[in-house]
Amino acid sequence: MRTYQNNTLLDALAGRVPEHTPVWLMRQAGRYLPEYRQLRAEAGSFLALAKNPELAAEVTRQPVDRFGMDAAIIFSDILTIPDALGMGLTFEPGKGPAFASPLAFKNGAPDLPEIDVREELSYVAEAIRHTINDRYPVIGFSGSPFTLACYMVDAGASKGFLQTRRLLYAQPELLHRLLELLARLVADYLIMQAEAGAAVLQIFDSWGGLLSTPAFERFDLAYIREIITALRAHPATAEIPVIAFTKDAPLHWYPMLRDAGATAVSVDWRHDLRIVAREVPDLVLQGNLDPAALLGSVEELERAAKEVLAAVPRERAHIFNLGHGIDKSTDPELVRHLVDLVHHNPYR
Ligand code: CP3
Repeated sequence: MRTYQNNTLLDALAGRVPEHTPVWLMRQAGRYLPEYRQLRAEAGSFLALAKNPELAAEVTRQPVDRFGMDAAIIFSDILTIPDALGMGLTFEPGKGPAFASPLAFKNGAPDLPEIDVREELSYVAEAIRHTINDRYPVIGFSGSPFTLACYMVDAGASKGFLQTRRLLYAQPELLHRLLELLARLVADYLIMQAEAGAAVLQIFDSWGGLLSTPAFERFDLAYIREIITALRAHPATAEIPVIAFTKDAPLHWYPMLRDAGATAVSVDWRHDLRIVAREVPDLVLQGNLDPAALLGSVEELERAAKEVLAAVPRERAHIFNLGHGIDKSTDPELVRHLVDLVHHNPYR
C-alpha cells in the first residue's frame, strides 16, 4: 500500500495509534469557506463545479491547504449516481436536492437505463487524479444503496422518506430490484475511485437509521455487505480501508457493520465513543463531535472536542471527525482551532 508524508489516517485505519490523532471533517469543502463560494459562483452551480475535474480538485484541496486536515475527501456528491441514471438532479437553494424525473417502475423493475459508471462518472475519477499527491491521502465515497434509493423513490430530500419506507412494506421485491442495481453501480464506482488513486473509501448511509433492525439487515446492511465483498474480490480494492457511516445507528448495529466487512465505523454525536469502543473492540472509530459545537463559543468547542478525545481509550485508533456534515454557517476560524486542538490531543 502507498504511504504519504502524512500517513496518520492510514496508520489509524490499520489499527495503529499514530503520533497525532488524524482529523478530517465530513463536508469539509463547502459553503462555509469563502474560497469555495467564489469558485462555485465562477462555475455557476454546485453540479457544474463538481463536474469540472480541475475545479473539483481545487475545492477538494482548499480546506486541507487552509487548516491542515490529515486527509482530503473528493469533492462530489452521493447523488452523482442517480444523476448519471438520467434523473435530472438539481439543487434548489434552501430546498436541497430534487429530481426532474422521479423514479418509475415498469414490469416489476426500476425503469432505468443500463449505464457504465466508468463512463458516466469519469469526471469523478478525473478529479481524484488531479487531487492525489504525496502529502496526504484522498478519500473516495459513495452513498449506500438504501440511502440512494431514499432520494430516488422520494424524488429528492424528504423528512422521513416515507415513500421509500412504504415501498419496503408495499412491494419489497421492487425495492430489492432497485437496491441490487444500485449495489452493483456503487461497487463499480468505488473501484473506479480507488483505481484513480483514492486510498480510503467511505460509504455514507445517511438514512439507514430510519429503519427497524430487521429492515436494516435486509434492505441496507445486506447491500453494504455485498459492496464490501465485491471490493475485497477486486485487486484494486482488496485491501482498501472502508469506513461505514450509518447515521443514527443504534449501538447493536455496529457489530453488524463490522461483520459486513467495515474497517472503521463513523459514529454520530449521540453515541458515547467509550461505549461504542467496548461494543466493537476490533474496529477503528471515527467521529463524533456534534457539528453544532462549531457554531458556538471557542470555550464550549474546546470542552466538547476534549470530551470526544477523552472518550476514546488510549490504545484505540481514532479518527477525529464530526458526527455529521459541517454546517454552512460555521466560522472557519473555529475549524482552524479544532484541527489544531486535535493535533495536540492532550489525551495521547
Ligand atoms: O465531505 C466533503 O467535503 C465532500 C463532498 C460531499 C458533498 N456531499 C458536497 C456537497 C459529500 C461527501 C457529500 C455527501 C452527501 N450528499 C450526503 C451524505 C452525507 C450526509 O450529509 O448525510 C448526502 C445525504 C448528500 C445529498 C446532498 N447533497 C444534500 C442533502 C445536499 C444539499 C445540502 C444543503 O446544504 O443544501 C447536497 C448538496 C451538496 N453536496 C453541497 C455540497 C458542498 C452544497 C451545494 C452548494 O454548494 O450549494
